[in-house]
Amino acid sequence: MSELKKPVFKPNREFAAQARIKNMCEYNALMDWAKEDYEGFWDHFAKEKITWMQPYHTVLDESNAPFVKWFEGGKLNVSVQCIDRHLDTRKNKAAIIFEGDRGDNQVITYRELYYNVNRFANMLKNNFGVQKGDRVVIYMPMIPEAAYAMLACARIGAIHSIVFGGFSAEALRDRIEDAQAKVVITADGAFRKDKPYMLKPVVDEALKGTSVVEKVCVVERNGEDVTWVAGRDYSYNELIKNQSVTCSPEPMESEEPLFLLYTSGSTGKPKGVQHNQAGYILWAQMTMEWVFDVKENDTYWCTADVGWITGHTYIVYGPLAMGATTVMFEGVPTYPDAGRPWKMVEEYKINQFYTAPTAIRVLHKSGEHEPAKYDLSSLKVLGTVGEPIDPPAWKWYYEAIGGGKCAIVDTYWQTETGGHIVSPLPGATPIKPACATLPLPGIMGEILDPQSGEKVGVGESGYMCVVRPWPSQIRGIWGDPERFVKSYYGDVKKDGKPVYFTGDGALYDEDGYITITGRTDDVINVSGHRMGTAEVEAAIKKHPNVAEVAVVGKPHEIKGEGIFAYVVLKGEDTVSEEMEMVKEINNVIKKEIGNIALCDDVIFVPGLPKTRSGKIMRRILRAIAKGEAITQDTSTLEDPSVVQAIESAVNSCKM
Ligand code: WT7
Repeated sequence: MSELKKPVFKPNREFAAQARIKNMCEYNALMDWAKEDYEGFWDHFAKEKITWMQPYHTVLDESNAPFVKWFEGGKLNVSVQCIDRHLDTRKNKAAIIFEGDRGDNQVITYRELYYNVNRFANMLKNNFGVQKGDRVVIYMPMIPEAAYAMLACARIGAIHSIVFGGFSAEALRDRIEDAQAKVVITADGAFRKDKPYMLKPVVDEALKGTSVVEKVCVVERNGEDVTWVAGRDYSYNELIKNQSVTCSPEPMESEEPLFLLYTSGSTGKPKGVQHNQAGYILWAQMTMEWVFDVKENDTYWCTADVGWITGHTYIVYGPLAMGATTVMFEGVPTYPDAGRPWKMVEEYKINQFYTAPTAIRVLHKSGEHEPAKYDLSSLKVLGTVGEPIDPPAWKWYYEAIGGGKCAIVDTYWQTETGGHIVSPLPGATPIKPACATLPLPGIMGEILDPQSGEKVGVGESGYMCVVRPWPSQIRGIWGDPERFVKSYYGDVKKDGKPVYFTGDGALYDEDGYITITGRTDDVINVSGHRMGTAEVEAAIKKHPNVAEVAVVGKPHEIKGEGIFAYVVLKGEDTVSEEMEMVKEINNVIKKEIGNIALCDDVIFVPGLPKTRSGKIMRRILRAIAKGEAITQDTSTLEDPSVVQAIESAVNSCKM
């Protein structure tokens, strides 16, 4: 392999001595245990970690694979796992520390969390008629009530589906309809950069086109005026006052659904990824303990939004299941300046800090010297997630933030995996910059050759797979079992049996470490958010002047990848009209999906490179967007001359 060897950083000795997994011998012992007695391994942890209401009789049932069942016969309640069972020993401990955009803050103890969640649960039952199995859409800012709403659903057995607050009314409506949600929980809005922004009007707009939602619960956060629809909209702040602070938890079967979370695939509409009760909460808790190694008096901060899986597993469920103190932040990391996160680390004495490479790059670029102004000595573990981190960003994170003494856990996982699957362990794994290292104990992660199903050799690209089912894995796509099988079990077979394929490419290095190289399908990763090219294309096609469109990802300095659209217009257009069209196209995207999917480049081309059977050759488009030479054979194209025309359109835009 020609690639230069990466430097290796051994775990901090002092840290390792007190860590849950202290060295590679312990890691290997756990992995060997899982390999030799897979069910025994998971049985041990399920018994040790979960407070069962009724014990399970079967650890794993694979008879209907890939539809698997974990811990069948068992009953539990995830809100009990996250709250009630801590009340004996942690009732006055901070469960959530909330910091608002404008620096306001609030500490919620485990006892207060218990009361707030119970009240919320009673309100959902009494005032909104929510019953076990009902779907509830949560469209909320980053405020504690978002966590109460999730846990209240869990308490009564309702299935929540959080929609990220940056999604548009159309995107929200699609998700509401797909899940057939009868209640939406939202807020008037919240604050960003000291200014109010609104969510409730987006809900109003979304609900205009659908009749599935019966009631809307509105939490007051920014106090701005909102419109009320009589008989549909109700104020949380009013209703919550009269609720009882006790609510008996619904005993849930291990495999009943806990939540849905919509994510993008390579084709079609977003898919409702379903996670169930026991397996999900077990792995959320185990990875919190192993990967972040949070201790009883630690304060842990993950900067994600609850609208993404990271917010579910590593702001709410994982930290609370283990009884930790989790920080929730409403604002943006660069406001009032790029020292904000470091100021918060100093103020709250944060011990574990978890964020995305995009945020690290922004904070590095716009505030290289900010960290030096603050006392960051409380930090023990730094985490990254969502996309490959580039070595310069890694180095700054390691040195300027971690002071060269903190492990960086480059956690690789996805919405579908529920929790981390490949990651260093901070007290055990020698780390290398920008490398997710090794599968976690119990996760049978392998890089396979898609043709032969064999493990690839050192330096050879292959597909990142998991060859055995694991407790926190996706259980289905809401309403579409066929798509579930096709999306994850269609591409790679090992020993003749389909195995879970993540959609990512990866490589082994000479130490057997895994480096994730990125998606192998038509999914773009913009600032750690997954966007399907098909979804963006479908939005752009809604513009009446667009004849054809193809979207690809293009490397972007801050966002990791940016969105690059090739558009064929109907009829002839002049340059000035094209400039107007770029604006209009982005307006359509804003309306159909939201600002997160806006295009970085829109190029008007006379045609798209298609094969004679009509398939768009995106590889050519990706190469042109990157400014690379075309290496593929273009003779199979229906009209090979189109490639040159596209290249010159792109080049003329660069001038
Ligand atoms: C996709 C999953 C996992 C929570 C946030 C995103 C990419 C994720 C890493 C990493 C390289 C990564 C993959 C994956 N990804 N973590 N540490 N190194 N790539 O969740 O929206 O489901 O996206 O993010 O491509 O498939 P998601």
